[in-house]
Amino acid sequence: NKQLIIAIDGYSACGKSTIAKDVARILDYTFIDTGAMYRGVALYALNNQLIQGDVILTDQLADSLPEIQLDFKKNSETGKRHLFLNGTDVEEIIRRPEVAAVVSKIAAIKEVRHKLVASQREMGKNGGVVMDGRDIGSVVFPDADLKFFVTADPLIRAERRLREMQSKGIETSLESVLQNLQERDQTDRTREEGPLIQTPDAILIDTSHFTRESQLEHVLNIIREKF
Ligand code: C5P
Repeated sequence: NKQLIIAIDGYSACGKSTIAKDVARILDYTFIDTGAMYRGVALYALNNQLIQGDVILTDQLADSLPEIQLDFKKNSETGKRHLFLNGTDVEEIIRRPEVAAVVSKIAAIKEVRHKLVASQREMGKNGGVVMDGRDIGSVVFPDADLKFFVTADPLIRAERRLREMQSKGIETSLESVLQNLQERDQTDRTREEGPLIQTPDAILIDTSHFTRESQLEHVLNIIREKF
């Protein structure tokens, strides 16, 4: 059985990571949440006062990159794979609105992308991975075995993300979640380095009116047809 590289790219909060996790579980592959890594760098920048108001101290952040260590490791209590930033489990804090508000600006910094793309290539080089992000099929693994591009109606995305955040006890509103999603999409689409694009060989999936189960079934059928 060939160990495939499966790339899942698309807009914010379309359910990419849900699909990626479900597919990885069924195929017994490793799920890699590349958005968590950008969120981890954003958290580092916030914690180290490298973001002051609207200004990001880009040069200082670029100089600090060697000090930023990101690992996916099992949390000993839950047994789930979480993101660790310099040894601390940050899986929950990186989902907070403060991080979401700045992450796309951090992800537009060339040096940040170079570091994370290199590390993602290393993690996926032996295959057996489902990687979710924005530039996986275009930049990280242009030769991925299978590429999906996920989209959904913005309002449905915002409602889903709001429910998810509320269930974690994060207080926010539909309006601000929707605004954040649209701002991130815009920043991600228009940046110079690794912009969010649908490559011609990516299969489009619109999750607006799919249930989690029917979505998984659809993606698995495509995988089975091809391999
Ligand atoms: O996937 P998630 O919404 O957690 O990603 C957070 C942010 O990280 C995105 O809005 C985008 O700016 C950035 N990102 C990226 N490239 C990736 C994954 C995420 O630029 N491969």
